[in-house]
Amino acid sequence: MFQPSPWRADFPAIAALQRQHQTYLDNAATTQKPQALLDALSHYYGHGAANVHRAQHLPGALATQAFEATREKVAGWLNAADAQQIVFTHGATSALNLLAYGLEAQFEAGEEIAISALEHHANLLPWQQLAKRRGLRLVILPLDSSGHIDLDAALQLIGPRTRLLAVSQLSNVLGTWQPLQALLDHARAQGALTVVDGAQGVVHGRQDVRQLGCDFYVFSSHKLYGPDGVGVLYGRPEALARLRHWQFGGEMVQLADYQQASFRPAPLGFEAGTPPIAGVIGLGASLDYLASLDPHAVVEHEAALHRHLLRGLHDREGIRVLGQPQLALASFVVEGVHNSDLAHLLTEQGIAVRAGHHCAMPLLGSLGLDGAIRVSLALYNDSDDLQRFFSALDQGLELLR
Ligand code: ALA
Repeated sequence: MFQPSPWRADFPAIAALQRQHQTYLDNAATTQKPQALLDALSHYYGHGAANVHRAQHLPGALATQAFEATREKVAGWLNAADAQQIVFTHGATSALNLLAYGLEAQFEAGEEIAISALEHHANLLPWQQLAKRRGLRLVILPLDSSGHIDLDAALQLIGPRTRLLAVSQLSNVLGTWQPLQALLDHARAQGALTVVDGAQGVVHGRQDVRQLGCDFYVFSSHKLYGPDGVGVLYGRPEALARLRHWQFGGEMVQLADYQQASFRPAPLGFEAGTPPIAGVIGLGASLDYLASLDPHAVVEHEAALHRHLLRGLHDREGIRVLGQPQLALASFVVEGVHNSDLAHLLTEQGIAVRAGHHCAMPLLGSLGLDGAIRVSLALYNDSDDLQRFFSALDQGLELLR
């Protein structure tokens, strides 16, 4: 049965891609943008760009107002208590690097950082390198066969030596929601700081950082239908106060002379230099657009498409879906077929999916794989997109088998 997306026409790039015979199913990598975002960028650049927090003039005041309005919108989107808990970065990766450098002084040699076996490189490498710099132990929480962090094992491994837990909310490879609440509650009871990588999770349903009770939550704008080059770091005030300043320059300073300087607290103290002004204003427009949609209708639409995707994959012989994806995406391999060969044939037929290790090489390695194909969905996809994918998949497999 045809399942349309009521929001498809709000994303002009989808029609443009279709005119180029492209079916876009790589949404976990980045999403297409709503017209509301294009309008906001065009308005900002078309009516007078200006730097923020510096100028007395009108364009500067307007840019600052729009920039700070987005901070309020992001705080509202995450249910943070105060907009001052939102730091703008250049992406989720830069937010995680900020944390790994900003928290460095909090650790003593021999202490532990816990992450899970499914982390994206962005939530592995900053901690791995911090562990090397400070002589810490990086503890890897194992997964069960469905692709969730094994809770019993994790609760054993997170103990009094654990100073920080950093985990993804929704796996970018397996499409599994992690048992966050139990992990976070346990880690906090052990006195550990907690970091949630919400890069994928934030896109699928409203998140509530106060309910989660995490110390830090990060995400990238470009996966949440916003511009690229913008990321968000949310922090509890006590946790933000523990961060050491790590990038130095304009607007993050309180007082400076040639030999000494003092720095502002978060958020501005962690936004050195000119921030991505247009991008932040654009993110505000994307959030306004998303807030205008019926959230239940979006979740239901995505869930129905996901069921369709899984059914189609399971119905085909020789396909192994990785883990038990719950939403948004599915990664798979085909017996006797290399993922890059199949990806090549899908690309030739205008199907945009991602193939390879998905920036999670250790996870793929632990599954005995060097890569997989990932189909990832967004609210503007419809069942015709999946039909085109499946017919390209069948043709590709016929050639390769
Ligand atoms: N993190 C993005 C992905 O999983 C780029 O594709």
